[in-house]
Amino acid sequence: MKNIYSNILKFNKNTLFKTLRYLKKNKIVGLPTETVYGLAGNAYSNESIKKIYSIKKRPKKNPLIIHYYDLSRTSKDIKIDNDLVKLYKKLCPGPITFVVKKKKSSKISNLSTAKLNTVAVRFPSNKKTRIILKKLNFPLAIPSANKSSGVSPVNAKDVAEEFRNKLKIIIDGGDAKFGLESTVIDLTNKARILRPGVIGNIKISKILKKKISLAKSQKIIRSPGSLKKHYSPNIPMKLNQIKAKKNDAFIVFGKKYKNRKNTFNLSKKSNLNEAAKNLYRIFRKIKKLNYKKISVVKIPYKGVGIAINDRLKHAAS
Ligand code: TXA
Ligand code: MG
Repeated sequence: MKNIYSNILKFNKNTLFKTLRYLKKNKIVGLPTETVYGLAGNAYSNESIKKIYSIKKRPKKNPLIIHYYDLSRTSKDIKIDNDLVKLYKKLCPGPITFVVKKKKSSKISNLSTAKLNTVAVRFPSNKKTRIILKKLNFPLAIPSANKSSGVSPVNAKDVAEEFRNKLKIIIDGGDAKFGLESTVIDLTNKARILRPGVIGNIKISKILKKKISLAKSQKIIRSPGSLKKHYSPNIPMKLNQIKAKKNDAFIVFGKKYKNRKNTFNLSKKSNLNEAAKNLYRIFRKIKKLNYKKISVVKIPYKGVGIAINDRLKHAAS
């Protein structure tokens, strides 16, 4: 497909250099990660963080995730405990975020952590973003690159459409590998999952050799700042439906559904990982096609299905 957006840049020596220059000047850039695309800025700079909140129209009380190249680079900013080390060794770099205690001496901008004494840290695996992180001497605050409460972007074009020419650099990293935001696990007390993701509680339990509480679907323990409505295409959405009116978009899962004009299949093969990857792309497509209502079939509540159900629930609320 032809790239009609001049701010979507192919990753090469020149654009890497330009991106680093922008970030060092406390400017904001769009970057790919393995989960969703993000808006990146210097996490040590109030100026950068202000820009991120302003362009996203994000409530100040909703803290950002700080992205590092590796665990050794976090040592001045956070308290590193055993659980973090164990999970890091098995799962990182990868799609998981850890809420940990912040050190008093930390240089992380207070604005990015909503003045909490905890901070969320993540080590993304996307190769391009890792090269960028490696070359900087500060970590990056990277929220998903969408306006607050909207649908996270899963490719560079989504980011360009969301922010138009307000962003000068969006690094093209193709389609995001997972298409769903990272698992957020709180390690500051008894380990518990605040936001389910592709890495599930069973896997985490095995690594830590203890039970990990998972937010129940009805009373999800949200990260502090997150709004009830989230991940939303802003179209009325009904969940657990068995059919849809022909003028409504119908999001389905599995091969038993016929290919109709208004039908959007998350995965014909009933594969939950594929469904996760397709979810936000389908939300955006339905929005572009101007549907006024969405019906969604029941999605199995297991594995990645737990994360998909979480996002659907927020999108529908
Ligand atoms: O996959 C991801 O995590 C993506 C990519 C770009 O890395 N980023 C992302 O960031 O999803 P964002 O800002 O859209 O979501 C961050 C989530 C929010 O729910 C926020 O409340 C939570 O992390 N969070 C951040 N700091 C926290 C803290 N100290 N305690 C609890 N939750 C926190
Ligand atoms: Mg987000």
